[in-house]
Amino acid sequence: MWDVFMNANVFEGGATGRRDFLGRATVLAAVCGVWGMSPGDAAGAEVAAQRRTAQDKVLAELEAEDESMFRVPGEERALVYWLARLRGAREVLEIGTAHGYLTYELALAAQARGGRVTTIEIVPERRAKAVRHLERLGVAGRVTSLEGDAHVLVAGLRRRFDFVFLNADKSGNLDYWRKLYPGKVRAGGVVLAYNYSRRLEPMMDFVEAARGNPQVATAVFSALPDDVFFGVLDLR
Ligand SMILES: C[S@@+](CC[C@H](N)C(=O)[O-])C[C@H]1O[C@@H](n2cnc3c(N)ncnc32)[C@H](O)[C@@H]1O
Repeated sequence: MWDVFMNANVFEGGATGRRDFLGRATVLAAVCGVWGMSPGDAAGAEVAAQRRTAQDKVLAELEAEDESMFRVPGEERALVYWLARLRGAREVLEIGTAHGYLTYELALAAQARGGRVTTIEIVPERRAKAVRHLERLGVAGRVTSLEGDAHVLVAGLRRRFDFVFLNADKSGNLDYWRKLYPGKVRAGGVVLAYNYSRRLEPMMDFVEAARGNPQVATAVFSALPDDVFFGVLDLR
């Protein structure tokens, strides 16, 4: 879509100056009319898209430098970002930061609503690396990074979350669920667990507890053929 906007801009007025501005404004107004947006929204979307493109270049550099495999693949990170955006998440919790790749997606999703991410990692070196990554990616200001055992730290969290991503010890998911739900999950909140198909056995007790709870709706999601997310949606 933005290609259309930029091409039309060149066609209307050349590359610089007032005609350029008028050309952009004309096309912007037309685009906004079609989408029912205000020009301010569209200009904001352009800035956000440019910023994201620059950030994703840094992300590609970090991934190329990082030989560890502590990360959810990009296609699956995109699905988590998408779900968090759909939920309009402002307060996000991640359990299992590792090197912060998924944290980055969650921070971008939360940023869209002026929100923030709390993330917990038990291994100090991983947490330190994640903080460095998030600084380079320009989202560290949106993230509270906690170091320690999430089973202990979750109990002390004072925030209520509208999006929770579980990707640490799978056999701990039931304990996380019990500590988080319902008191630390906002009405309409989402709890998403990774590795539903590859690591189902250790998290089966959590899956059964959620499925047996009439206050929630559950679903599975997949971005890639070899794994699935298990999602819980609060119905209060
Ligand atoms: C698969 S990695 C997370 C990957 C990350 N979400 C991503 O995609 O970039 C799981 C992480 O959970 C951490 N972890 C395991 N048990 C934990 C616990 N009890 N508390 C906090 N973190 C834990 C591990 O040290 C590991 O870094």
